[in-house]
Amino acid sequence: MSARERLISHLSRYRSIIPDFDSFIDYQFRPLNPTIRTNTLLLEPGELASMLSSRGMRLSAVPWHPWFFRVDDPGQVGNPGRTMEHLLGYYYVQELTSALPPMVLSPRPGDLVLDVAAAPGSKTTQMAQMMRNSGTIVANDVDYRRMGALRSNVDRLRITNVVMTRNDGRRIQSSVAFPRILLDAPCSSEGIARRSPEHVAKLTLTQIRGLSRLQISLIRRSIDLLAPGGLLVYSVCTFAPEEAELVVDHAISLGVEPEEVRLPLRSEPGIREWVDEKGRHYRFSPGVEMAVRIYPHLNDTGGMFIALLRKPEAR
Ligand SMILES: C[S@@+](CC[C@H](N)C(=O)[O-])C[C@H]1O[C@@H](n2cnc3c(N)ncnc32)[C@H](O)[C@@H]1O
Repeated sequence: MSARERLISHLSRYRSIIPDFDSFIDYQFRPLNPTIRTNTLLLEPGELASMLSSRGMRLSAVPWHPWFFRVDDPGQVGNPGRTMEHLLGYYYVQELTSALPPMVLSPRPGDLVLDVAAAPGSKTTQMAQMMRNSGTIVANDVDYRRMGALRSNVDRLRITNVVMTRNDGRRIQSSVAFPRILLDAPCSSEGIARRSPEHVAKLTLTQIRGLSRLQISLIRRSIDLLAPGGLLVYSVCTFAPEEAELVVDHAISLGVEPEEVRLPLRSEPGIREWVDEKGRHYRFSPGVEMAVRIYPHLNDTGGMFIALLRKPEAR
């Protein structure tokens, strides 16, 4: 079987849940232009656009987020991750769907935020911008090597409200409870097939189930660390219900309340039922429908699943 056939064969497990499935498959083979986020701590989006346009880069604005541009043609510059402007921290290369979980969590200046799985820092640095470099983000990750990338991104963007910790997210200890937590969990990353088709083509059900168990442990600990009344955003860049609705369903069973996820682009609600390729039948509680599924063919992006959960106030 060719890599293309293996990718299609793997993704076919979602035929019954993804609308317009043929178009979904078609999009897996379309190149995804890079997108960049202006570092608004250092300059305005318009300034960045004229700087890069004068170097021959062709950009188009993203209608639903003023900080972002699509790189339609990098011109002579080549890789947008290797320019002087990038090195100076004027922008961050970030896929558009990756910008959505911070938008849903919506941290404000002065807030205290825990980012449980933060490296390499796309969302940490975006949240630091949203908080105008004030308040505190505890950016945690378990992987020391990936934390090097997180540190360098935080430094490059001249961010000063981030504290880095290295812990297994299942065992983070804290004497304070967090009013806002982002759990952008390790996942099977099916939503990045447009960039890494080989990775997705090789995925197995055993891997997906293993990740699901890890995600459930991570969300349990995140709920423990959440302040009463606090908000938790759970996101994974994948389509597998075992890593999406199943995890959120478990969180709901622990007492957190789902809230509606509102996004400025097309999405589908979380699903209530799923039968996997081995015939295992899953049924999820109605609250999972408040989460959203973002599919590549709906907005010409990657894929993502996002849920917003609130811990009830203490009685
Ligand atoms: C999807 S990536 C995070 C991407 C990051 N939020 C961003 O926007 O740049 C998942 C991360 O989870 C980390 N991870 C894996 N297992 C973990 C664990 N048990 N505790 C904390 N982090 C973990 C990985 O090292 C990886 O950096």
